[in-house]
Amino acid sequence: MDDSIEMELATLASAERDRSFLLVKGIGGAVCLTYVVNTALVFPWYRRSPLPYVASGRSQVDRVLRLLEGRPGKVADLGSGDGRIVCAAATQGFHTDGYELNPFLLGYSRLMAHRKGLASLARFHRKDLFEADLRLYNNIVIYGEPLILRRLEQKLAEEVTSGSRVICCRYQLPTWAPTSTLGEGIETIYVYDKV
Ligand SMILES: C[S@@+](CC[C@H](N)C(=O)[O-])C[C@H]1O[C@@H](n2cnc3c(N)ncnc32)[C@H](O)[C@@H]1O
Repeated sequence: MDDSIEMELATLASAERDRSFLLVKGIGGAVCLTYVVNTALVFPWYRRSPLPYVASGRSQVDRVLRLLEGRPGKVADLGSGDGRIVCAAATQGFHTDGYELNPFLLGYSRLMAHRKGLASLARFHRKDLFEADLRLYNNIVIYGEPLILRRLEQKLAEEVTSGSRVICCRYQLPTWAPTSTLGEGIETIYVYDKV
């Protein structure tokens, strides 16, 4: 009888140890995964550029699409992330180019475009957005941040052609006055129509 109680206690203790071990493994796994994802997606490119990966939410993508409605010409997304803006614009029939430095995001974007049957309209370039030839586009989308936008403004002034539209998500160009805005607060989109 004593033996069986001892065995039961030993089994319970062993099950408790297994549970603790699983918990430690789970937490350790989550920490490692976070580290790997951050290392892959954020840190190396953050060092090269102060513009980290933050994806547009559904409402932001919808607003960008509204601003593209009926527009002529091609679309560029400068810093295309996982390609959601590029794919959404391509779904509306636009020839759209995404410029992105992060190869993981580029791979994912190309895969998504391919799976959605958009590969002929949605193209992705592993290229610094400052090296993109903006003269090719009538519609330029950027979800940037103030440092990047300050640098970009000069390039936009030199390359954006008459009749083109620049769409800035969340942050506005530092010195240009927007033609119009859509949304409010951090959801604001700033529109610049070049005459
Ligand atoms: C705020 S995210 C926007 C992603 C996407 N446009 C969206 O709206 O969901 C900015 C993206 O720009 C990329 N990026 C940062 N610096 C860049 C550069 N110099 N050239 C190209 N892409 C860059 C980042 O890797 C990141 O994916």
